[in-house]
Amino acid sequence: MDSDFIELDGVEKVFDVRRRTGFLRRERREVRAVDGISFRVPRGEMVGYIGPNGAGKSTTIKMLTGILTPSGGRLRVAGIDPSRERTKLAHRIGVVFGQRTTLWWDLPLRDSYRLMHRMYRIPDRRFRENLDRCVELLDLGALLEVPVRQLSLGQRMRGDIAAALLHDPEVLYLDEPTIGLDVVSKAKVRGFLRDLNAERSTTVLLTTHDLTDIEQLCRRVMVIDHGRLVYDGALAGLHEVGESERTLVVDLERELPPVTLASDPSVRVVRVEGPRQWLAFPASVSAAPLVARLAADYPLVDLSVREPDIEAVIAKMYASDPAL
Ligand SMILES: Nc1ncnc2c1ncn2[C@@H]1O[C@H](COP(=O)(O)OP(=O)(O)OP(=O)(O)O)[C@@H](O)[C@H]1O
Ligand SMILES: [Mg+2]
Repeated sequence: MDSDFIELDGVEKVFDVRRRTGFLRRERREVRAVDGISFRVPRGEMVGYIGPNGAGKSTTIKMLTGILTPSGGRLRVAGIDPSRERTKLAHRIGVVFGQRTTLWWDLPLRDSYRLMHRMYRIPDRRFRENLDRCVELLDLGALLEVPVRQLSLGQRMRGDIAAALLHDPEVLYLDEPTIGLDVVSKAKVRGFLRDLNAERSTTVLLTTHDLTDIEQLCRRVMVIDHGRLVYDGALAGLHEVGESERTLVVDLERELPPVTLASDPSVRVVRVEGPRQWLAFPASVSAAPLVARLAADYPLVDLSVREPDIEAVIAKMYASDPAL
């Protein structure tokens, strides 16, 4: 049970979209937002859920909260079918939609929290403890009496994260929780989530377009594209899937024509600037023999190896999708 805290088997969501195409004429079109997704998340894991715009991430999260009913497949969270027992599940999950707030716009933060205290029937002591902790760690002290509409985006987001945690949810869905935040606020939010996961074993499903969030928080990442899961594994493994390249930056004694390694056709010079040359080679190939051969054939002064950056890998992965 604990190893299958979140379970999806062939889950689908099809939207019927009607579009006006002329006078009294409407066209019906199906959008397969989620197209047969299966995965398992064990309790306590923190997983990244990423993909390009319109891939189906938010739709998946809405099904996991019970806001949307799947068109097909089977879905369980903590053994509960979300759309059938939405209220029961609500006590066990927390959600943050970065794009819109779950707080009451005209109320000060503190009043929103009071309402949640009652809505979720949180025991008084537990509520106070959780609120104190969030206020301290998310730096909300000075903001509690401020109406939500007067908060900056970053302040509001921290307020939303606290709101999602007051009832001790076992699982937290975060849909772009760092969107629009400055570097300092992002670091604060990430630190908070890391501690939460470590101390309370809260299961976290994290959607973001900021891959640093994933790099810093998630060992496992799932990539969704056109409603399908195209990758599920370690972040490091994405490099292989994306057929990424590493770069060898070599400083020669003097300006020379682009170097060639007859034995290694996979190595290409991608840039030359005076005596410095950039050589791209497959990430799966070891750099050591390349360096040895270069040193034997060329007047080498210095060199360094650059790892592919994960953003480039993912961009390449999306771009290589034949469906695009
Ligand atoms: N209520 C709806 N009615 C019709 N189509 C919808 C609805 N909600 C989402 N869609 C469509 O489903 C697809 C997936 O949308 P979704 O919001 O899940 O994407 P996403 O991965 O969250 O993208 P983003 O990164 O932009 O937030 C899109 O093509 C979108 O237009
Ligand atoms: Mg979305």
